[in-house]
Amino acid sequence: MKTYISASILGADLLNLAKECDRLKESNVDMLHFDVMDGQFVNNISFGLPVLEKLTKYTDIFKDVHLMISDPLKYINDFVKAGSDMITFHVESDSDPDETISAIKNAGIKAGISVKPGTPVEEIYPYLDRVDMVLIMTVEPGFGGQGFIPETAEKIKTLKKYITENNICIDIQVDGGINNKTIDIVKTAGANVIVSGSYLFNAQSMSEAVSTLK
Ligand code: DX5
Ligand code: ZN
Repeated sequence: MKTYISASILGADLLNLAKECDRLKESNVDMLHFDVMDGQFVNNISFGLPVLEKLTKYTDIFKDVHLMISDPLKYINDFVKAGSDMITFHVESDSDPDETISAIKNAGIKAGISVKPGTPVEEIYPYLDRVDMVLIMTVEPGFGGQGFIPETAEKIKTLKKYITENNICIDIQVDGGINNKTIDIVKTAGANVIVSGSYLFNAQSMSEAVSTLK
């Protein structure tokens, strides 16, 4: 399966987002990962709709939106209008997963569903036939620059085995603590959409960092 790199702009120079978008394009990054945090679902508040709208006006790069918010269903239409190409929400949120997936798919974009490190991956099995991607969090959601949690590799393997055996064609995304050392673990386990923030944006050469991950 092809490996895609999604750059988490939480790790970018937020004062110079336009330049950072240029850097993504020049470095062959496949997607822009946009982390939305509401201070309720996670212990942090990041950025939201007005910033996404600006990014959409500026760059055509694929927008991979990660909603770490308590009630994603309430905001799906707004995030679609703001330019999301894919929206991923958490199975642990308060919204009904089936309704949330329907809202995303009815808007004509891709849908992803995510599990935190402490949630068994089996909890998303009932939704696998309706989503395009599963995001297995490899850190506790909320902050960039954290260390990879090694135990999450087992969940990736379990999911990969399950989708292979059941002929389910979806992407497996990982997010948190991915760098030149942890990439092999997640790829060997079966992940093919790789989110990276601090490793990519702090690299001397983003292109080389992207090649290393790919
Ligand atoms: C964490 C976010 C991640 C984060 C990844 O809650 O979902 O996308 O920005 O950052 P790094 O790659 O620095 O761990
Ligand atoms: Zn994220």
